[in-house]
Amino acid sequence: MSAKKPHLNLIIIGHVDHGKSTMTGHLLFDTGNVDDKTISKYAEESTATGRGDTFKFAWVLDTLKEERERGVTIDLRFEKFETDKVFFTIIDAPGHRDFIKNMITGTSQADAAILVVSARKGEFEVGVGPGGQTREHAYLARTLGVSQMAVAINKMDEPDTVKYSEERFNECKKEMEALLKVVGYDTSKVHIVPVSGWIGDNLVKRSDKMPWYKGPTMLDVLNTFQEPPKPTDKPLRIPVQDVYSITGIGTVPVGRVETGVLKVGDNIVFMPPNARGECKDIETHHTKIPEAVPGDNIGFNVRGIAKNEVSRGDVAGKTENPPTVANEFIGRIIIVYHPTAIAAGYTPVMHAHTATTSATLTELIQKIDARSGQVTQEKPDFLKTGDAALVKIRPLRPLPIETFKEIPQLGRFAIRDMGSTIAVGVVEQVTEKATVPEKKS
Ligand code: GTP
Ligand code: MG
Repeated sequence: MSAKKPHLNLIIIGHVDHGKSTMTGHLLFDTGNVDDKTISKYAEESTATGRGDTFKFAWVLDTLKEERERGVTIDLRFEKFETDKVFFTIIDAPGHRDFIKNMITGTSQADAAILVVSARKGEFEVGVGPGGQTREHAYLARTLGVSQMAVAINKMDEPDTVKYSEERFNECKKEMEALLKVVGYDTSKVHIVPVSGWIGDNLVKRSDKMPWYKGPTMLDVLNTFQEPPKPTDKPLRIPVQDVYSITGIGTVPVGRVETGVLKVGDNIVFMPPNARGECKDIETHHTKIPEAVPGDNIGFNVRGIAKNEVSRGDVAGKTENPPTVANEFIGRIIIVYHPTAIAAGYTPVMHAHTATTSATLTELIQKIDARSGQVTQEKPDFLKTGDAALVKIRPLRPLPIETFKEIPQLGRFAIRDMGSTIAVGVVEQVTEKATVPEKKS
């Protein structure tokens, strides 16, 4: 990894089978990050499964046996990928709704996204329709804080319904702009590029099949993405991903620094358990570092806490400014998809940073217009797909979370039920803080 280039996590999202892995594999190939020999090998292997060579690019990313047998992506794949200007960690996400938990995890770590949308007749319409993952992924990306977005209108080569047609592209583009506006993106900043991930049109090389398109290639767009500023001036917050106990060293929680700076010698508190100790050392990629900043994935040894005192979903901060723990809070949510309607008392699963817990929507406070923010109804009886609302939420156990206004990185959440994302939201106000147990030391 070159030191001077800006580094970004880029996630590839979109409805199942719209061509994410194929486009990603081809991008890696065209930029010299994957060689000829590898692609030829995958072409042979894919042909041997009876699918022709159609997965030769996708298999750069789809490396699991089950993924190759089923022809779908299941888990996240991280690959490094360099342009002449930017160093990317590219994250290929699964589109299939069964694996959306993996997609959410990846998106929560992303700085930018390419939303891949197939132009093929029928495929496009299903993806943007209610319950489609084009829609769902756009909402999730927005709420999980991915502010930079590009859209690939893919499969432009498709010979039956697309045929490199400008008209079809414009139709898809118009619908995508409408969708992204509702979701909350400033569409004047979102490039929408007609591509074929399979042939390689407009990925790195400009296509001669679409002379009507004058805009940037996908690579040009990627080069416009900016490294996000590091929120080092905010209080320290590290959501815990895992905790290890290492012989001779002690307890080592692992996580990504979201905000603030952690230095060796800092006094740390984990909430909600209120477990306290001193940070003895910090490691990233097996290298000791004196301090960690936002974006760093670290393991940090803390003296004075036992492994069983801390677990995934807890948040570390400094003792002088400990993480907030909520018994109840007001969230501003958007219903991404619900087959019927949601009323007070509904108790789905809530995901916030690394935490997962059941939570009850105890009160529907106001229905609001997602675009203008105007209140359209006080105390609605129910909420339906597409509605935005202020609701009171009570997690079944105290949850470390912050208001979006103060610490956006810790102020977002998703609500899931029946295998899909029902709603996404941000924390407006913590209405009841938890009383934490007596200080442990
Ligand atoms: P999941 O990860 O399972 O959600 O799928 P995906 O979005 O990664 O799609 P993948 O790349 O696996 O491709 C799915 C199918 O679409 C394969 O049969 C590909 O060959 C085909 N495909 C992908 N890109 C293109 C394209 O640009 N043109 C055409 N015609 N077919 C494509
Ligand atoms: Mg895939």
